[in-house]
Amino acid sequence: MTLRDSIISMLETHKGEYISGQSIADALSVSRSAVSKCINSLKNEGFDIKSVNNLGHCLDTNCDIISSAGILSHIEDENIEVRVFKTIDSTNSEAKRAITNGLTADAIFIADEQTSGRGRRGRSFYSPKTSGLYFSCVLHPTVSLAESTLLTAAAAVAVCESIEEITKKHPKIKWVNDIFIDRKKVCGILTEAVSDFESGRVQAVIVGIGINLTTEYFPDEINQIAASVGQNINRNYLSAIVFKKLKAFCDSLPEKGFMEEYRKRSLVLGETVYFTRNGIDYTAKAEEILDDGGLAVTTDDNERIVLQSGEISVKLI
Ligand code: BTN
Repeated sequence: MTLRDSIISMLETHKGEYISGQSIADALSVSRSAVSKCINSLKNEGFDIKSVNNLGHCLDTNCDIISSAGILSHIEDENIEVRVFKTIDSTNSEAKRAITNGLTADAIFIADEQTSGRGRRGRSFYSPKTSGLYFSCVLHPTVSLAESTLLTAAAAVAVCESIEEITKKHPKIKWVNDIFIDRKKVCGILTEAVSDFESGRVQAVIVGIGINLTTEYFPDEINQIAASVGQNINRNYLSAIVFKKLKAFCDSLPEKGFMEEYRKRSLVLGETVYFTRNGIDYTAKAEEILDDGGLAVTTDDNERIVLQSGEISVKLI
C-alpha cells in the first residue's frame, strides 16, 4: 500500500475522529512531515479533512470520495483488487476488459459516473456523477454457468440487506433483479459471465450494481419508475458491505442460503404479472420462486409455466 492509501485507510477507519499526526507517523513508520505533506495533498484532491493543533487530523463523516483504500478499509481482505474511476463508459465493460487482459483476483470496479452504463436486455443505465453508486464485483464461483446466474439473486439480497442496515428502509425485489423502495426502482443489477471457450467453465462472473442514491431528476423514459434511496450513504462503505455479503454468498453458492430472503423480499409473489413469450402476451399469477431462480406462474388458462430470468421480463400493475 502507498503512504497515501495507508493514510486514507486510517482516516476512513476513524472517520469523524481526530488522529494525531504523530500516531499516524508512528503507525506507518514515516516522519510527521511526510504525513503532513500527504494530508495536504489529500485536501487538495477534495478530501474533507480538518486539521487542528494538538488534536490532529479528522476526515469529515460526510466526505464521500470513492477510493480503493476507503473501500478496502471496510473489507479487510488484502487480496481484493479495487480499481476506481472518475468517469468510465461502464464498470462492467472495464471489468471485462481487465479479465481479458489477465485479471485473476476477485475485484471491485467503481466509478463516480458512467457515460454508457448498461442495463439488462440492451437497455442503458442512467449513471450521473456522484449521486449514485456504480460498481462491478468480479468473483470466481466454482460452479456451472447455469448456477452462476444465481449470483444475481444473491446480489439482490446483498443490496437489500445493506441498504436496510444503513437506512432502516425495507427494499423489495422485483424478479429477477430490480430493487424497489416504495414501488419505485432504486437499483438494477446486471450479471455477466466470462467463460473459458475451451473448457466451457466460468472464468469469472461480473455482477454490476447501480444504486440511485440522491439522483433527483431522471430522463423522461424512466422518470415514472425510477427513484433514489434518498439518503447520502457513504459509497465506500456501501460498496464494501454489499461486496462482502455477495462474496460470502458466492463462496457457498450451492447452499443457496440467500434464496429464503430473496423470496421474502419478492414484490411479485402472489401478484398478477404480465409477460410476453414467443410473441404471445400472458396474464398470470406468480406462485413460486424455485431454487434455480425460475419464477413459476399459473396463467389465466390454468397452465403452469416456469419463467427463466434471461428469457423474459415481467410487469406488475
Ligand atoms: C438494469 O437495471 O437493467 C441493470 C442495471 C445495472 C447497472 C450497473 S451500474 C454498474 C454496472 N456497470 C454497468 O454498465 N451496468 C452495471
